[in-house]
Amino acid sequence: MLDKFIIAANWKMNGTPAEARSFAAELDEFIREVQPQSEIVVCPPYILLNEMHGSFKKGGQNCHHETSGAFTGEISAKMLKNAACEYVILGHSERREMGESSELIAKKAQAAKAAGVKVIFCIGEKEGEDFESVISEQLNFAVDVDVIAYEPVWAIGTGKTPSLEEINSRHKFIKDKCGLQVMYGGSANPDNAKDISALQNVGGLLVGGASLSISSFTSIIEAK
Ligand code: 13P
Repeated sequence: MLDKFIIAANWKMNGTPAEARSFAAELDEFIREVQPQSEIVVCPPYILLNEMHGSFKKGGQNCHHETSGAFTGEISAKMLKNAACEYVILGHSERREMGESSELIAKKAQAAKAAGVKVIFCIGEKEGEDFESVISEQLNFAVDVDVIAYEPVWAIGTGKTPSLEEINSRHKFIKDKCGLQVMYGGSANPDNAKDISALQNVGGLLVGGASLSISSFTSIIEAK
């Protein structure tokens, strides 16, 4: 269990070295000046991790479940740790869509824990699916994890979000089931960040598109 509200940037497959360096420099300056109470985490593509330095935490967007070996194109949790990552996002719906099973995600979480990397474990139902049954099933695999990110799949990158009441009650459902802090993800932006982050059961924000620009990401941080 973590204690601070977490605001994490998931850059997905975006960003150049120059963009990463200037984003990091500006974010560092912002954090030093504003001293936000939240834990700020930036999760760029792997090859940009070493371009980003400053007074924020870093995270990977995935890792492999083995520590090393003949796994072409993969990155281990230990490698993330060596690249100064304190966090890793696991089970993102974009990876589940590519075929990652709950069993595999659970193995990755175990590997991350063994490497000393905190797990942001993503769960979420697709449009038309039953929230409680999908979430309950996915939570069965949330064993070696530190924080949950609830991301309704239909809200990702669409500009649509559940109502504030729905977000709060769904986060309560998740929290009651697993006892962990629950971040919200899915079209979080500077306009809705204040209302969403003020909800009693919301313990953080996982931000995709709106984290790519330093001004919108810092507006979200300021909104909390
Ligand atoms: P958007 O904020 O772009 O909707 O993405 C959310 C997300 O998938 C974060 O992991």
